[in-house]
Amino acid sequence: MSVSLEVTDLNSGYGEASVLEGVSFNAEAGEIIAVVGANGAGKTTLLNTIAGVVPPRSGSIKLGDEDIARIPAHKLPSKGLTLVPEGGRLFPFMTVRENLEVGGFCKRGTPEFTRGLDEVMQLFPILGKRQNQLAGLLSGGERQMCAVARAVMSQPQLIMLDEPSVGLSPKLVHEVFELVRSLAGKKGLTVLLVEQNVAEALEVSDRAYVLDHGQIVRAAPSSELADDPAIRAAYMGL
Ligand SMILES: Nc1ncnc2c1ncn2[C@@H]1O[C@H](COP(=O)(O)OP(=O)(O)OP(=O)(O)O)[C@@H](O)[C@H]1O
Ligand SMILES: [Mg+2]
Repeated sequence: MSVSLEVTDLNSGYGEASVLEGVSFNAEAGEIIAVVGANGAGKTTLLNTIAGVVPPRSGSIKLGDEDIARIPAHKLPSKGLTLVPEGGRLFPFMTVRENLEVGGFCKRGTPEFTRGLDEVMQLFPILGKRQNQLAGLLSGGERQMCAVARAVMSQPQLIMLDEPSVGLSPKLVHEVFELVRSLAGKKGLTVLLVEQNVAEALEVSDRAYVLDHGQIVRAAPSSELADDPAIRAAYMGL
């Protein structure tokens, strides 16, 4: 199951500093949308504002028919929205299994919770094997898998991923993008993907937005952006 997202004229920032300035974009249910941009463009701020971690100053964020702009972060997983934060942010002194259980807190006590645990252990056999190990002892790649699995535990309809491939070897980068593809394909989720790895992000996504200094400066089908000489020069080092 998936849900659409529509962000309109969103402004947010920190203290005196304004970061997002009039950001508008949308994701149809089941689409993979990439947001690319330079360091400091505001990509993480955008995901954190949608996730209710950074409060919006103005604008609307519609998940399906509901405006979620004023709903606090901890209530959003039960509405079908989840975030895999930059760096995964696992709880290092909890076991892998406990991290996964935290991810499913909004489903605790339901059959979906148990089904979710079985599902993510199947999806990521390494997590099944390591379930009783402290999450802080996982490798970088395993940690990223665990962070995605933890998010999947809430049975989301829209999953946001903040640079899931950062710091991984080329083989694991490929696996992470395959995983992103299967979240939309097999599980039918809507995916909002922020990535430094622009070539792969454009390859895996349907449409993409370019964020620059807190503003959306380009919106196009991903294949079109991937062939654009200006985008290739600015973001792909080509
Ligand atoms: N917690 C914070 N407090 C104050 N300013 C912040 C905070 N987090 C980010 N910023 C500022 O907001 C701007 C956007 O940062 P953000 O992390 O959203 O960028 P980004 O596009 O995710 O960058 P990167 O690609 O490096 O992850 C930057 O100027 C940054 O210094
Ligand atoms: Mg960031």
